[in-house]
Amino acid sequence: MKSFSMQGAKILATGSAVPTSCFHNHDISKIVQTSDQWIVTRTGIRERRLLTGIDKSIITLAVTASINALNKVSMDASQIDLIILATSTPNDLFGSASQVQSKIGAINAVAFDLTAACSGFVLGIVTASQFIQNGSYRNVLVVGADSLSKWIDWSDRSTCILFGDAAGAVIIQACSEADNSILDFQLNTDGNYSSCLSISYQEEIRPHPILNLYQGSFKYIAMNGKEVYKFAVSQVPLSILKCINSLNLSINDIDWLLLHQANERILMAVAEKLSISSDKIISNLSKYGNTSAASIPLALDEALQQNKIAHNDIIVISGFGAGLTWGTVVVQWK
Ligand code: ACO
Repeated sequence: MKSFSMQGAKILATGSAVPTSCFHNHDISKIVQTSDQWIVTRTGIRERRLLTGIDKSIITLAVTASINALNKVSMDASQIDLIILATSTPNDLFGSASQVQSKIGAINAVAFDLTAACSGFVLGIVTASQFIQNGSYRNVLVVGADSLSKWIDWSDRSTCILFGDAAGAVIIQACSEADNSILDFQLNTDGNYSSCLSISYQEEIRPHPILNLYQGSFKYIAMNGKEVYKFAVSQVPLSILKCINSLNLSINDIDWLLLHQANERILMAVAEKLSISSDKIISNLSKYGNTSAASIPLALDEALQQNKIAHNDIIVISGFGAGLTWGTVVVQWK
């Protein structure tokens, strides 16, 4: 019988992984009509890592990122109770989390996938912290991993310039209530705009001759860039304000703004709307592009490696993307 007393949750360790193959904007301009200047000006992206070669999937990246995180705190994978794999690009429609569980040897962990596109990692942290704060689990591994390169129409210049492949992982651990570092969250979904960003399922024209049953396959990523841009710049600041207001924090209390790495202009516009100084923005998208559910843990891991984040710093983390889904989680780094 579990005790459902409230307890704290804190991020114990982070890890990340990117493919070795690096493609500069100049490489992309050889396959579609675009230029380094256009891409940098409109997005801030200069290069991205892509999973090339056969037999490579998000599993390859998710496993490396998870092992990196475990190694940082010398934790054995058998101590993990739950694995949440945030991804929209599993290598199995039934889910890929169990393959990560098996490959890292997390023999005691239950594992499941969470699909919420670029908001997946934020939803993953929130879900993990619920399991920890109510006393159900002690150690939870949250992985954000995506390989949108497999779902891009590489002849569509409006989308193929944006995305890269990566994985990031965090281990969230139970702690005393006083050490709780996941302070609050705010989540939203508006399905009315789902067609703005989708990888939709398309049925074949001909049904099965006897069963009248249609089967099909998934299409490439389709995006209304302007609508997604407007949505992000208008809704993300509101989500952040609701979240910090509920904690009685002010804008000045924010040490770091860690947004989903979609577009440099979106990061700057959100910071500007909130009057947050641009030197508080954590950004690495020039090197990796938009890596969907991986972008936040990848940037967090890099910022920690660069010793940017100090004890007790307030980090405002916001994800946004297909669904449309968006949300904020406020973390005090311990
Ligand atoms: N290279 C050169 N020209 C291009 C390219 C390209 N790669 N792509 C489009 N263009 C052209 C268009 O054809 C258009 O030409 P026209 O004026 O002759 O018709 C012109 O450039 C302007 O195109 P817009 O689409 O209006 O460009 P915009 O300034 O809106 O920038 C962009 C496009 C970068 C996609 C922007 O809208 C954006 O960043 N939106 C947000 C997208 C995003 O973040 N998506 C991910 C969300 S997260 C998730 O869940 C996956």
